Amino acid sequence: MSERTPAEVVEAVAAAFERTFGSAPAGVWSAPGRVNLIGEHTDYNGGLCLPIALPQRTYAAVSPRDDGVVRMASAQQDGVVEVALDDISPEQPGDWGSYVAGVLWALRRDGLTVGGLDVLVDSTVPFGAGLSSSAALECAVAAAASDLFDLDLMGSAEGRARLAARCVEAENVIAGAPTGGMDQSASLLCEEAAALLLDCRSGETRHVPFDLDAAGYVLLVTDTKAEHALVDGQYAARRDACEQAARDLGIETLREIDPSGLDAALERLGSDEVRRRVRHVVTEIERVTRAVASLEAGDLDEVGRLFDASHASLRDDYEVSCEELDVATATARSHGALGARMTGGGFGGSCIAIVRASDADAVTAAIATAFEDEGFTAPVSFTVTASGPAHRDV
Ligand code: GLA
Repeated sequence: MSERTPAEVVEAVAAAFERTFGSAPAGVWSAPGRVNLIGEHTDYNGGLCLPIALPQRTYAAVSPRDDGVVRMASAQQDGVVEVALDDISPEQPGDWGSYVAGVLWALRRDGLTVGGLDVLVDSTVPFGAGLSSSAALECAVAAAASDLFDLDLMGSAEGRARLAARCVEAENVIAGAPTGGMDQSASLLCEEAAALLLDCRSGETRHVPFDLDAAGYVLLVTDTKAEHALVDGQYAARRDACEQAARDLGIETLREIDPSGLDAALERLGSDEVRRRVRHVVTEIERVTRAVASLEAGDLDEVGRLFDASHASLRDDYEVSCEELDVATATARSHGALGARMTGGGFGGSCIAIVRASDADAVTAAIATAFEDEGFTAPVSFTVTASGPAHRDV
Protein backbone atom coordinates (compact mmCIF):
# COMPACT_ATOMS: atom_id res chain seq x y z
CA MET A 1 0.00 0.00 0.00
CA SER A 2 1.29 3.41 -0.86
CA GLU A 3 1.47 5.77 2.08
CA ARG A 4 1.92 8.83 -0.15
CA THR A 5 -0.56 11.68 0.25
CA PRO A 6 -2.42 12.98 -2.80
CA ALA A 7 -0.38 16.21 -2.69
CA GLU A 8 2.86 14.23 -2.70
CA VAL A 9 1.80 12.15 -5.68
CA VAL A 10 0.64 15.22 -7.59
CA GLU A 11 4.01 16.85 -7.01
CA ALA A 12 5.92 13.68 -7.90
CA VAL A 13 3.97 13.02 -11.10
CA ALA A 14 4.43 16.62 -12.27
CA ALA A 15 8.18 16.43 -11.54
CA ALA A 16 8.47 13.09 -13.36
CA PHE A 17 6.61 14.59 -16.32
CA GLU A 18 9.05 17.47 -16.49
CA ARG A 19 12.04 15.11 -16.29
CA THR A 20 10.63 12.90 -19.04
CA PHE A 21 9.18 15.44 -21.46
CA GLY A 22 11.30 18.52 -20.71
CA SER A 23 8.63 21.00 -19.55
CA ALA A 24 6.00 21.28 -16.85
CA PRO A 25 2.63 19.60 -17.57
CA ALA A 26 -0.45 21.66 -18.38
CA GLY A 27 -2.12 20.03 -15.39
CA VAL A 28 -2.59 16.92 -13.27
CA TRP A 29 -5.82 14.90 -13.20
CA SER A 30 -6.67 11.90 -11.08
CA ALA A 31 -9.34 9.23 -10.86
CA PRO A 32 -10.06 6.64 -8.16
CA GLY A 33 -10.06 2.86 -8.14
CA ARG A 34 -13.19 1.22 -6.72
CA VAL A 35 -14.54 -1.59 -4.65
CA ASN A 36 -17.97 -2.89 -5.42
CA LEU A 37 -20.02 -3.33 -2.25
CA ILE A 38 -22.40 -5.77 -3.91
CA GLY A 39 -23.82 -6.57 -7.36
CA GLU A 40 -21.05 -8.62 -8.97
CA HIS A 41 -21.13 -9.75 -12.59
CA THR A 42 -24.41 -7.93 -12.98
CA ASP A 43 -23.30 -4.88 -14.98
CA TYR A 44 -23.04 -6.64 -18.35
CA ASN A 45 -26.42 -8.24 -17.64
CA GLY A 46 -28.23 -4.91 -17.42
CA GLY A 47 -28.37 -5.30 -13.65
CA LEU A 48 -27.63 -3.28 -10.53
CA CYS A 49 -24.33 -2.76 -8.76
CA LEU A 50 -23.19 -0.64 -5.84
CA PRO A 51 -19.55 0.49 -5.99
CA ILE A 52 -17.70 3.08 -3.92
CA ALA A 53 -14.68 5.05 -5.10
CA LEU A 54 -11.45 4.37 -3.21
CA PRO A 55 -9.09 6.93 -1.69
CA GLN A 56 -6.42 5.27 -3.89
CA ARG A 57 -6.16 7.07 -7.24
CA THR A 58 -4.30 7.11 -10.54
CA TYR A 59 -2.73 10.46 -11.38
CA ALA A 60 -1.98 11.70 -14.88
CA ALA A 61 0.24 14.71 -15.57
CA VAL A 62 -0.72 15.80 -19.08
CA SER A 63 0.08 18.38 -21.77
CA PRO A 64 -1.60 18.64 -25.16
CA ARG A 65 0.41 18.20 -28.37
CA ASP A 66 -0.44 19.63 -31.76
CA ASP A 67 1.08 16.89 -33.94
CA GLY A 68 -1.42 14.09 -33.30
CA VAL A 69 1.07 12.00 -31.36
CA VAL A 70 0.49 10.40 -27.96
CA ARG A 71 3.53 9.85 -25.76
CA MET A 72 3.04 7.94 -22.53
CA ALA A 73 5.28 7.19 -19.58
CA SER A 74 4.63 5.71 -16.16
CA ALA A 75 6.29 5.97 -12.78
CA GLN A 76 5.70 2.22 -12.51
CA GLN A 77 7.29 1.25 -15.87
CA ASP A 78 10.44 2.14 -17.78
CA GLY A 79 10.47 3.90 -21.12
CA VAL A 80 8.18 6.10 -23.20
CA VAL A 81 5.45 4.54 -25.34
CA GLU A 82 4.47 6.45 -28.46
CA VAL A 83 1.63 6.13 -30.95
CA ALA A 84 0.02 8.41 -33.53
CA LEU A 85 -3.69 9.07 -32.92
CA ASP A 86 -4.48 7.65 -36.36
CA ASP A 87 -2.63 4.41 -35.60
CA ILE A 88 -4.38 3.49 -32.33
CA SER A 89 -5.79 -0.03 -32.63
CA PRO A 90 -6.06 -3.26 -30.63
CA GLU A 91 -2.45 -3.90 -31.69
CA GLN A 92 -1.04 -0.41 -31.07
CA PRO A 93 0.31 0.75 -28.69
CA GLY A 94 -0.48 -2.48 -26.79
CA ASP A 95 0.06 -3.22 -23.09
CA TRP A 96 -0.79 -0.48 -20.56
CA GLY A 97 -0.60 2.25 -23.22
CA SER A 98 -3.86 0.88 -24.68
CA TYR A 99 -5.76 2.19 -21.67
CA VAL A 100 -4.44 5.71 -22.29
CA ALA A 101 -4.50 5.85 -26.09
CA GLY A 102 -7.75 3.87 -26.23
CA VAL A 103 -9.60 6.69 -24.50
CA LEU A 104 -8.51 9.19 -27.16
CA TRP A 105 -9.50 6.68 -29.87
CA ALA A 106 -12.98 6.31 -28.32
CA LEU A 107 -13.47 10.06 -27.91
CA ARG A 108 -12.60 10.58 -31.58
CA ARG A 109 -14.98 7.82 -32.62
CA ASP A 110 -17.66 9.68 -30.68
CA GLY A 111 -17.09 12.62 -33.03
CA LEU A 112 -15.17 14.70 -30.50
CA THR A 113 -12.08 16.63 -31.55
CA VAL A 114 -9.04 15.67 -29.53
CA GLY A 115 -5.34 16.09 -30.26
CA GLY A 116 -2.22 14.29 -29.14
CA LEU A 117 -0.98 14.26 -25.57
CA ASP A 118 2.10 13.79 -23.46
CA VAL A 119 1.05 11.77 -20.42
CA LEU A 120 2.91 10.64 -17.34
CA VAL A 121 1.01 8.42 -14.93
CA ASP A 122 1.54 7.40 -11.35
CA SER A 123 -0.84 5.45 -9.15
CA THR A 124 -1.63 4.55 -5.58
CA VAL A 125 -4.19 1.96 -6.73
CA PRO A 126 -2.58 -1.46 -6.27
CA PHE A 127 -2.18 -3.25 -9.62
CA GLY A 128 -3.74 -6.62 -10.26
CA ALA A 129 -5.73 -6.41 -7.02
CA GLY A 130 -9.15 -6.22 -8.67
CA LEU A 131 -9.51 -2.61 -7.57
CA SER A 132 -9.84 -1.18 -11.10
CA SER A 133 -6.45 0.36 -11.62
CA SER A 134 -7.14 0.19 -15.37
CA ALA A 135 -10.44 2.09 -15.13
CA ALA A 136 -8.75 4.68 -12.90
CA LEU A 137 -6.11 5.19 -15.58
CA GLU A 138 -8.69 5.52 -18.36
CA CYS A 139 -10.80 7.95 -16.35
CA ALA A 140 -7.86 10.17 -15.36
CA VAL A 141 -6.94 10.46 -19.05
CA ALA A 142 -10.58 11.08 -20.03
CA ALA A 143 -10.83 13.87 -17.45
CA ALA A 144 -7.63 15.46 -18.78
CA ALA A 145 -8.78 15.19 -22.41
CA SER A 146 -12.15 16.73 -21.57
CA ASP A 147 -10.52 19.76 -19.96
CA LEU A 148 -7.59 20.19 -22.35
CA PHE A 149 -9.65 19.86 -25.53
CA ASP A 150 -12.62 21.86 -24.18
CA LEU A 151 -15.01 18.91 -24.46
CA ASP A 152 -16.75 20.27 -21.37
CA LEU A 153 -17.84 16.83 -20.16
CA MET A 154 -16.61 16.92 -16.56
CA GLY A 155 -19.12 19.47 -15.26
CA SER A 156 -22.29 17.38 -15.41
CA ALA A 157 -23.38 13.83 -14.57
CA GLU A 158 -24.44 13.36 -18.22
CA GLY A 159 -21.02 14.46 -19.46
CA ARG A 160 -19.25 12.21 -17.00
CA ALA A 161 -21.47 9.26 -17.99
CA ARG A 162 -20.53 9.89 -21.62
CA LEU A 163 -16.84 9.88 -20.71
CA ALA A 164 -17.36 6.64 -18.75
CA ALA A 165 -18.95 5.03 -21.82
CA ARG A 166 -15.95 6.03 -23.95
CA CYS A 167 -13.57 4.56 -21.34
CA VAL A 168 -15.49 1.28 -21.48
CA GLU A 169 -15.06 1.22 -25.27
CA ALA A 170 -11.34 1.87 -24.87
CA GLU A 171 -11.10 -1.10 -22.54
CA ASN A 172 -13.33 -3.40 -24.64
CA VAL A 173 -12.02 -2.59 -28.10
CA ILE A 174 -8.46 -1.32 -27.72
CA ALA A 175 -7.31 -3.06 -24.53
CA GLY A 176 -9.34 -6.16 -25.41
CA ALA A 177 -10.96 -6.79 -22.00
CA PRO A 178 -14.71 -7.47 -22.38
CA THR A 179 -15.67 -5.79 -19.09
CA GLY A 180 -19.01 -4.17 -18.26
CA GLY A 181 -19.35 -0.50 -17.30
CA MET A 182 -19.28 -0.50 -13.52
CA ASP A 183 -15.66 0.46 -12.89
CA GLN A 184 -15.58 3.49 -15.17
CA SER A 185 -18.94 4.77 -13.89
CA ALA A 186 -17.69 4.40 -10.33
CA SER A 187 -14.50 6.29 -11.09
CA LEU A 188 -16.26 9.21 -12.77
CA LEU A 189 -19.55 9.39 -10.84
CA CYS A 190 -19.07 8.27 -7.23
CA GLU A 191 -19.25 10.79 -4.43
CA GLU A 192 -17.59 10.96 -1.05
CA ALA A 193 -19.34 9.11 1.80
CA ALA A 194 -21.74 7.45 -0.63
CA ALA A 195 -22.04 4.32 -2.72
CA LEU A 196 -23.22 4.61 -6.30
CA LEU A 197 -26.33 2.60 -7.13
CA LEU A 198 -25.91 2.00 -10.82
CA ASP A 199 -28.74 0.67 -12.95
CA CYS A 200 -26.92 -0.75 -15.95
CA ARG A 201 -30.14 -1.14 -17.96
CA SER A 202 -31.48 2.42 -17.71
CA GLY A 203 -28.16 4.12 -16.97
CA GLU A 204 -29.77 5.76 -13.93
CA THR A 205 -27.62 6.41 -10.89
CA ARG A 206 -28.37 7.23 -7.28
CA HIS A 207 -26.02 8.08 -4.42
CA VAL A 208 -26.67 5.95 -1.33
CA PRO A 209 -25.11 7.28 1.91
CA PHE A 210 -22.31 4.95 3.01
CA ASP A 211 -20.50 5.96 6.15
CA LEU A 212 -19.54 2.98 8.29
CA ASP A 213 -17.38 5.17 10.59
CA ALA A 214 -20.42 6.77 12.12
CA ALA A 215 -21.66 3.32 13.20
CA GLY A 216 -18.25 2.27 14.55
CA TYR A 217 -17.46 -0.04 11.63
CA VAL A 218 -14.90 -0.01 8.83
CA LEU A 219 -14.70 -1.56 5.39
CA LEU A 220 -11.62 -3.76 5.36
CA VAL A 221 -10.16 -4.55 1.94
CA THR A 222 -7.79 -7.52 1.62
CA ASP A 223 -5.70 -7.80 -1.51
CA THR A 224 -5.19 -11.56 -1.62
CA LYS A 225 -2.30 -11.22 -4.08
CA ALA A 226 -3.79 -14.18 -5.90
CA GLU A 227 -3.26 -13.83 -9.60
CA HIS A 228 -6.09 -12.08 -11.37
CA ALA A 229 -6.51 -11.28 -15.04
CA LEU A 230 -9.65 -10.21 -16.85
CA VAL A 231 -8.24 -10.93 -20.26
CA ASP A 232 -7.60 -14.59 -19.56
CA GLY A 233 -10.84 -15.86 -21.00
CA GLN A 234 -12.74 -16.84 -17.86
CA TYR A 235 -14.47 -13.47 -17.54
CA ALA A 236 -15.39 -13.56 -21.23
CA ALA A 237 -16.71 -17.11 -20.81
CA ARG A 238 -19.04 -16.02 -17.98
CA ARG A 239 -20.25 -13.08 -20.00
CA ASP A 240 -20.85 -15.25 -23.08
CA ALA A 241 -22.81 -17.79 -21.01
CA CYS A 242 -25.12 -15.05 -19.72
CA GLU A 243 -25.64 -13.56 -23.16
CA GLN A 244 -26.36 -16.97 -24.64
CA ALA A 245 -28.84 -17.75 -21.83
CA ALA A 246 -30.64 -14.46 -22.49
CA ARG A 247 -30.89 -15.34 -26.20
CA ASP A 248 -32.21 -18.80 -25.34
CA LEU A 249 -34.86 -17.23 -23.13
CA GLY A 250 -35.77 -14.67 -25.80
CA ILE A 251 -34.91 -11.68 -23.63
CA GLU A 252 -32.46 -8.86 -24.09
CA THR A 253 -30.58 -9.29 -20.81
CA LEU A 254 -30.91 -11.45 -17.69
CA ARG A 255 -32.19 -8.33 -15.89
CA GLU A 256 -35.56 -9.06 -17.41
CA ILE A 257 -35.99 -12.15 -15.26
CA ASP A 258 -38.04 -11.23 -12.21
CA PRO A 259 -36.90 -13.13 -9.10
CA SER A 260 -40.43 -14.56 -8.81
CA GLY A 261 -40.06 -16.04 -12.30
CA LEU A 262 -36.55 -17.40 -11.77
CA ASP A 263 -37.49 -21.05 -11.30
CA ALA A 264 -39.62 -21.03 -14.44
CA ALA A 265 -36.79 -19.41 -16.42
CA LEU A 266 -34.26 -21.93 -15.09
CA GLU A 267 -36.44 -24.84 -16.19
CA ARG A 268 -36.17 -23.59 -19.75
CA LEU A 269 -32.37 -23.70 -19.74
CA GLY A 270 -30.46 -26.71 -20.97
CA SER A 271 -27.52 -27.22 -18.64
CA ASP A 272 -27.03 -27.20 -14.91
CA GLU A 273 -24.00 -24.94 -15.32
CA VAL A 274 -25.95 -22.28 -17.22
CA ARG A 275 -28.79 -22.51 -14.69
CA ARG A 276 -26.34 -21.76 -11.88
CA ARG A 277 -24.86 -18.80 -13.76
CA VAL A 278 -28.30 -17.32 -14.34
CA ARG A 279 -29.37 -17.97 -10.75
CA HIS A 280 -26.35 -16.02 -9.51
CA VAL A 281 -27.12 -13.01 -11.68
CA VAL A 282 -30.82 -12.84 -10.81
CA THR A 283 -30.34 -13.37 -7.07
CA GLU A 284 -27.40 -10.95 -6.99
CA ILE A 285 -29.44 -8.15 -8.54
CA GLU A 286 -32.08 -8.77 -5.87
CA ARG A 287 -29.39 -8.63 -3.17
CA VAL A 288 -28.34 -5.17 -4.38
CA THR A 289 -31.87 -3.88 -3.93
CA ARG A 290 -32.01 -5.38 -0.45
CA ALA A 291 -28.56 -4.05 0.46
CA VAL A 292 -29.58 -0.51 -0.52
CA ALA A 293 -32.75 -0.77 1.60
CA SER A 294 -30.72 -2.15 4.52
CA LEU A 295 -28.10 0.60 4.26
CA GLU A 296 -30.83 3.19 4.18
CA ALA A 297 -32.44 1.61 7.25
CA GLY A 298 -29.07 1.50 9.05
CA ASP A 299 -29.26 -2.31 9.27
CA LEU A 300 -25.60 -3.27 8.84
CA ASP A 301 -26.21 -6.80 10.14
CA GLU A 302 -28.42 -7.45 7.14
CA VAL A 303 -25.87 -5.87 4.77
CA GLY A 304 -23.33 -8.30 6.22
CA ARG A 305 -25.62 -11.27 5.62
CA LEU A 306 -26.11 -10.12 2.04
CA PHE A 307 -22.32 -9.89 1.58
CA ASP A 308 -22.03 -13.52 2.76
CA ALA A 309 -24.82 -14.68 0.46
CA SER A 310 -23.24 -12.83 -2.46
CA HIS A 311 -19.91 -14.54 -1.84
CA ALA A 312 -21.51 -17.98 -1.63
CA SER A 313 -23.33 -17.36 -4.89
CA LEU A 314 -20.17 -16.16 -6.65
CA ARG A 315 -18.25 -19.16 -5.30
CA ASP A 316 -20.79 -21.91 -5.90
CA ASP A 317 -23.04 -20.74 -8.74
CA TYR A 318 -20.87 -18.35 -10.72
CA GLU A 319 -17.58 -20.09 -9.89
CA VAL A 320 -15.37 -17.01 -9.96
CA SER A 321 -13.88 -17.23 -6.46
CA CYS A 322 -10.60 -18.91 -5.56
CA GLU A 323 -9.09 -20.49 -2.45
CA GLU A 324 -7.45 -17.29 -1.27
CA LEU A 325 -10.73 -15.35 -1.48
CA ASP A 326 -12.61 -18.14 0.30
CA VAL A 327 -10.05 -18.32 3.11
CA ALA A 328 -9.92 -14.53 3.54
CA THR A 329 -13.72 -14.14 3.68
CA ALA A 330 -14.21 -17.15 6.00
CA THR A 331 -11.47 -15.90 8.34
CA ALA A 332 -12.93 -12.39 8.45
CA ARG A 333 -16.32 -13.87 9.33
CA SER A 334 -15.00 -16.16 12.03
CA HIS A 335 -13.22 -13.17 13.59
CA GLY A 336 -16.32 -11.07 13.91
CA ALA A 337 -16.96 -9.49 10.50
CA LEU A 338 -20.64 -8.78 9.87
CA GLY A 339 -20.11 -10.13 6.37
CA ALA A 340 -17.39 -10.63 3.79
CA ARG A 341 -17.25 -11.19 0.06
CA MET A 342 -14.96 -11.11 -2.94
CA THR A 343 -15.21 -7.87 -4.90
CA GLY A 344 -14.66 -7.27 -8.61
CA GLY A 345 -14.29 -9.83 -11.35
CA GLY A 346 -12.84 -12.57 -9.13
CA PHE A 347 -10.37 -15.38 -9.95
CA GLY A 348 -8.12 -13.65 -7.41
CA GLY A 349 -8.04 -9.98 -6.50
CA SER A 350 -9.51 -8.54 -3.32
CA CYS A 351 -12.21 -9.20 -0.77
CA ILE A 352 -14.08 -6.78 1.47
CA ALA A 353 -15.44 -7.23 4.98
CA ILE A 354 -17.50 -5.06 7.30
CA VAL A 355 -15.74 -5.19 10.65
CA ARG A 356 -16.02 -3.30 13.92
CA ALA A 357 -13.36 -0.55 13.86
CA SER A 358 -11.82 -1.95 17.04
CA ASP A 359 -11.52 -5.43 15.42
CA ALA A 360 -9.80 -4.32 12.19
CA ASP A 361 -6.26 -5.10 13.37
CA ALA A 362 -7.25 -8.49 14.77
CA VAL A 363 -9.07 -9.47 11.55
CA THR A 364 -6.10 -8.31 9.47
CA ALA A 365 -3.74 -10.41 11.60
CA ALA A 366 -6.03 -13.45 11.49
CA ILE A 367 -6.19 -13.33 7.68
CA ALA A 368 -2.40 -13.01 7.48
CA THR A 369 -1.98 -16.03 9.76
CA ALA A 370 -4.51 -18.08 7.84
CA PHE A 371 -2.67 -17.30 4.59
CA GLU A 372 0.63 -18.30 6.12
CA ASP A 373 -0.86 -21.57 7.35
CA GLU A 374 -2.18 -22.28 3.86
CA GLY A 375 1.13 -21.43 2.21
CA PHE A 376 -0.39 -18.52 0.26
CA THR A 377 1.47 -15.30 -0.61
CA ALA A 378 1.14 -12.75 2.21
CA PRO A 379 -2.02 -10.63 1.72
CA VAL A 380 -2.28 -6.87 2.23
CA SER A 381 -5.25 -5.49 4.18
CA PHE A 382 -6.28 -1.87 4.59
CA THR A 383 -9.43 0.06 5.44
CA VAL A 384 -11.09 2.40 2.96
CA THR A 385 -13.75 5.08 2.99
CA ALA A 386 -16.03 6.06 0.12
CA SER A 387 -14.16 8.78 -1.74
CA GLY A 388 -14.63 11.31 -4.52
CA PRO A 389 -14.61 10.92 -8.32
CA ALA A 390 -12.19 11.88 -11.10
CA HIS A 391 -11.12 15.53 -11.02
CA ARG A 392 -8.41 17.98 -11.91
CA ASP A 393 -5.82 18.29 -9.12
CA VAL A 394 -3.78 21.24 -10.40
C1 GLA B 1 -14.77 -6.40 -13.43
C2 GLA B 1 -15.36 -5.66 -14.62
C3 GLA B 1 -16.70 -5.02 -14.27
C4 GLA B 1 -17.64 -6.03 -13.59
C5 GLA B 1 -16.91 -6.79 -12.50
C6 GLA B 1 -17.75 -7.90 -11.93
O1 GLA B 1 -14.44 -5.48 -12.43
O2 GLA B 1 -14.48 -4.64 -15.05
O3 GLA B 1 -17.28 -4.47 -15.42
O4 GLA B 1 -18.19 -6.89 -14.54
O5 GLA B 1 -15.69 -7.35 -12.96
O6 GLA B 1 -18.84 -7.38 -11.25
